[in-house]
Amino acid sequence: AKNRTFTMLKPDAVEKGHIGAILEKISASGFRIVAMKLTQMTTKDAQNFYAVHSERPFFADLVEYMTRGPIVAAILEKDNAVEDFRTLIGATNPADAAEGTIRKMFADSISENAVHGSDSDENAFIESAFHFSGREMF
Ligand code: CMP
Repeated sequence: AKNRTFTMLKPDAVEKGHIGAILEKISASGFRIVAMKLTQMTTKDAQNFYAVHSERPFFADLVEYMTRGPIVAAILEKDNAVEDFRTLIGATNPADAAEGTIRKMFADSISENAVHGSDSDENAFIESAFHFSGREMF
């Protein structure tokens, strides 16, 4: 069934000029853009968004990274969106990501891995609501 996932093109991807190429790949893979904007997370935003990682050793670096410049936030719709988008982006560590995946093509490291994809329908809903109001979803 059609469902939705949430994604961010992270600051490294935006800095390197990969917005167009990544969106092209997402569209070519059958995802419909429901919502999208260029935005920048505050420190509080990133601490809240990544609260599940707050005890991890990389948490401070993750917050610093995700707030250092603009991101593209978007909601995507497709059959099986959450799982299929995670397949499209590839493993968290680009070194382990399959050939042709977004992280394999555009990410440099496990910490700066170019793109976010929700890991469940429930988190897709929570993350979408974090960044978008109902009137920004189409
Ligand atoms: P993502 O899986 O989208 O969300 C959590 C982020 O934390 C992850 O992408 C990376 O950006 C970062 N991350 C995950 N694991 C590590 C790690 N071992 N070292 C550094 N950063 C990490």
